[in-house]
Amino acid sequence: MSSAAKIKIEKDFQVGKVDPRLFGSFIEHLGRAVYGGLYEPGHPSADEQGFRTDVLELVKALQVPIVRYPGGNFVSGYNWEDGVGPIGQRKRRLELAWRTIEPNTFGLNEFVDWCRKAGSEPMMAVNLGTRGPNEARELVEYANHPSGTYLSDLRIRHGYREPHRIRTWCLGNEMDGPWQIGGKTASEYGRIALESAKVMKWVDPSIELVVCGSSSTEMPTYPEWEATVLEHTYDHVDYISLHRYYGNRDGDTASFLASSLDMDDFIHTVIATADYVKAKKRSKKKMYLSFDEWNVWFHSNDADKKIEPWQIAPPQLEDVYTFEDALVVGCMLISLLKRADRVKMACLAQLVNVIAPIMTENGGRAWRQTIYYPYMHASVYGRGTVLVPLVQSSKYDCRKYTDVPHVEAVAVHNGEAGELTVFAVNRHLSDALGLDIDLRSFENASLIEHIELTSDDLKAVNTADNPDRVKPVSGTARVAKEDAVFTAQLPKASWNVLRFKV
Ligand code: AHR
Repeated sequence: MSSAAKIKIEKDFQVGKVDPRLFGSFIEHLGRAVYGGLYEPGHPSADEQGFRTDVLELVKALQVPIVRYPGGNFVSGYNWEDGVGPIGQRKRRLELAWRTIEPNTFGLNEFVDWCRKAGSEPMMAVNLGTRGPNEARELVEYANHPSGTYLSDLRIRHGYREPHRIRTWCLGNEMDGPWQIGGKTASEYGRIALESAKVMKWVDPSIELVVCGSSSTEMPTYPEWEATVLEHTYDHVDYISLHRYYGNRDGDTASFLASSLDMDDFIHTVIATADYVKAKKRSKKKMYLSFDEWNVWFHSNDADKKIEPWQIAPPQLEDVYTFEDALVVGCMLISLLKRADRVKMACLAQLVNVIAPIMTENGGRAWRQTIYYPYMHASVYGRGTVLVPLVQSSKYDCRKYTDVPHVEAVAVHNGEAGELTVFAVNRHLSDALGLDIDLRSFENASLIEHIELTSDDLKAVNTADNPDRVKPVSGTARVAKEDAVFTAQLPKASWNVLRFKV
């Protein structure tokens, strides 16, 4: 019987090397991401700094290479100085982006400490909403300048003799959005981003900068925004950002599972726009992409409307993820990997409690949501070189998309480990499908394991009381081999990781 899908793996046909930062995440001062998530002094698992070690353990297993901070919309009204110095003297502020009270008991230095414990590097965003180049360069000086100036010595007085050496910086957040504090037109933002970029790099020439692209493909200014912003900033920045969230608001699962087709298109358009500006400027420089917010986000929208304003760390954006959400996250990860040549960084938004793979109870338990698993698999097994995805699959049409491949797949070769991993989603809602994996370009390939994430219920979720309702299983039984062609049976509606020794 012939299989519904084939992937031909050619070891010399490469898309590009995966930058480990492709598997980044995001922590915003929003809801219970920081307070009750990362940080909860008095929690039974809290360490001497108040960091929840139960959460740290779950984060470490994800091998998160980089975490973006402190926002998000939050950053556009944030004074970084409020979050440094003796905790007892820090100011409480009204936080206008999410209509809460920000206690500032956690700030830059605590975040850097937390990152070191988590094995992640920090990615800082500067406020270009209510502030500008001056505060941005001062923040770089405080964080990264070794010593001998007021701001670097202030950091030392705050207990941090060594500079933080923060490598990656975002020039504001979603500046095209009318919801953004201090939102801007593309030209206004292009100018302020350019001037900020210049002085930030003058303070520390080793840093890399991400300029804001559109907040989503649905913005009326997309993709003209990218063209205008890059015309101002092309020579001074290293990445342009992309943000995108999907949801299944109308219960159309066939369309929801195909959301990554929109993501593919988005990536393609931003690359084309960046290359247009490159050509216009007769530049030799290649602009890379930072997909620094991506996820499923919709479950909590109604509940959030009922939250009373001006609380500290209310339960905002607490999406409880279903099994089908995990499949969409899997497809989005495959989209990112397929363009690893240009998408060098990406951040699953977010990490804990707020649209997150990890959930906690205040004072209580922590557990893995359904989306934790594809994210972990991609981060742990997706390092190496992405091979050109020569994939053939049967297709379907749905309300929002046509020609949707039933099987979405990509392969990553990790030469150092001598491993090859195929990530594959079967979008078919009723049928298991065979995937032929042609490994003839490798000698003596052998299967290590086939990890599957499946469920009989597309709406199944993990909760504190039932944390393992959706979890992966590993086996080898569903994979047959003939010569160097392996045929894997992908269960209906499933996320699959096929690991080979090569
Ligand atoms: O991640 C939640 C929010 O989504 C971020 O604050 C913002 O940048 C985006 O709109």
